[in-house]
Amino acid sequence: MTKPARLAASILNADFARLGEEVARLEPYLDFLHLDIMDGHFVPSLSFGIPVIASLRRACALYLDCHLMVTNPTSLFAGVKEAGGDMVTIHIEVWPDPTGAAAEARALGLDFGLVINPPTPFGAVAPFLGLCDRLLVMSVNPGFGGQAFLPEVLDKVAEARKFIDSAGLPTDIEIDGGITPETARLARRAGADSFVVGSALVRAPDPVKAAEEIRAAVKDR
Ligand code: DX5
Ligand code: ZN
Repeated sequence: MTKPARLAASILNADFARLGEEVARLEPYLDFLHLDIMDGHFVPSLSFGIPVIASLRRACALYLDCHLMVTNPTSLFAGVKEAGGDMVTIHIEVWPDPTGAAAEARALGLDFGLVINPPTPFGAVAPFLGLCDRLLVMSVNPGFGGQAFLPEVLDKVAEARKFIDSAGLPTDIEIDGGITPETARLARRAGADSFVVGSALVRAPDPVKAAEEIRAAVKDR
């Protein structure tokens, strides 16, 4: 069953010199924060790492969802936990059998999820969804904020919704990349529960208004 919609901000395109202020301003309008960790190897760009997670932990009370776009994600789990992160999500493209990684995350007290890139078929993650608090469906190819939503991933969201519901799993379906009120509405209709919004929030002239518009767009299915 689709859950009440939840809204997260991705701070990748925020003004990093004012990160604390930006997060504080958005905090009342968000359900959680989505942190994009990039290693310059799994994806071409570098973003930020553990020290920034620790700073954000001190700056807000939001649940911290850490999206690990790195080649060796398990090596970061302990650091993420220590810094105050709540969840790690790892790409199925780098970890084709995530059973051990899920156990490692749980042993540390972290929630665990899998991420699937646009070209990867749903079948790659299906056998492991029972291990996951969340399935993160990428709606852009990872690496940069500000890209256009790829509508072809909507079928994968619908496939995931059907699979999760018929297996009776509690796994949350999160969508990430190019989310605006219009694309959020499409993803909600396809069955997404959680919506990661980067540029459309942090680059908006009025981020609070932008958050309210996205919330309104995903209220119903
Ligand atoms: C892409 C990241 C996303 C993205 C979201 O690699 O995982 O979280 O930056 O930003 P927008 O909403 O700008 O696509
Ligand atoms: Zn992300």
